[in-house]
Amino acid sequence: MNDLQGREIDYLRISLIDRCNLRCVYCMPEEGIEMIPHDEILTFGEIVRICRVMASMGLKKIKLTGGEPLIRKDVTALVRRLKAIEGIEKVTITTNAVLLADMMEDLSDAGVDAINISLDTMDKDLYARITRRDAFDKVMEGIEAALKHPEINLKINCVPMGLPEQDLIDVAELARKHKIHVRYIEMMPIGLGKQFHFVNEQEILEQLEEKYGKAEIYKGKLGNGPSHYYSFEGFEGKIGFISAISHKFCSQCNRVRLTSQGFLKTCLQYNTGIDLKMPLRKGALDEELKALITEAVNGKPISHQFLEHEIGNENNLGMSQIGG
Ligand code: 5AD
Ligand code: SF4
Repeated sequence: MNDLQGREIDYLRISLIDRCNLRCVYCMPEEGIEMIPHDEILTFGEIVRICRVMASMGLKKIKLTGGEPLIRKDVTALVRRLKAIEGIEKVTITTNAVLLADMMEDLSDAGVDAINISLDTMDKDLYARITRRDAFDKVMEGIEAALKHPEINLKINCVPMGLPEQDLIDVAELARKHKIHVRYIEMMPIGLGKQFHFVNEQEILEQLEEKYGKAEIYKGKLGNGPSHYYSFEGFEGKIGFISAISHKFCSQCNRVRLTSQGFLKTCLQYNTGIDLKMPLRKGALDEELKALITEAVNGKPISHQFLEHEIGNENNLGMSQIGG
């Protein structure tokens, strides 16, 4: 599936549920989150159908995200069904890992290819302040459980928030000690994230080099997307950066997103895309779904303009609804 810019779209990120068991300050408000009625959320059957149709159009990689995907009941069954679709090469999950420890065996059994864990600090108290929940120990248990499965590619996603007390180097220690890649994700001006300022990747790299010596650019590929990586001597894992604002990578964008309510969203910033739930529920044939998907992909914006349009940002969904 190519868009009109010639970008190959082979990656779908699916938000399974808007809800989350954490309340990260840059993502969700403490209270007052609108509950979406159950029947407005795509069923697993509907998700599998969309993925099957998209796989026939060239989809190869699927990421399950949220909100928090692991709070959706029986998510391992979905992993299994998606893995069985012809043409789907990788099914991966992004999670906060609060529930991971207990689910790890089942996820591995279902064939999950990679797990990305959101973790912004190694300080238990700061973790509780950022996420408004006391779940740090659970997350550590989750990471430990995941490390027992070397066949599953593990990454940590850390969002620098510009807080002096957020020790970013401490998080990198995970990549020194374990086969786990640590990525710093630039804060994007989406939803509550607008209140924060991103930390320049050069600044983080300098701090890392000061402690660990010269970073070598790593040329290999480690995932589906836009991060670039460095190797440090003595590290088991790599250190990566996803810098959507300071190193815009829209020209290589390979993805579209499916919200939990069935909207196929073609750019993080804009509301462009197409609703697939209604046609699905009205009995659309595969060919009709394909035509809608093609139409949405053809309307994919050339790039985000977060910096140019910070005030007139068109997107009206928060990160927990879009699925990071
Ligand atoms: N900018 C960048 N990353 C964000 N996330 C949530 N909100 C933002 C934002 N505004 C991250 C989470 C998680 C991933 C799914 O998205 O920390 O790692
Ligand atoms: Fe939940 Fe992730 Fe949002 Fe934190 S950033 S509240 S873990 S969805």
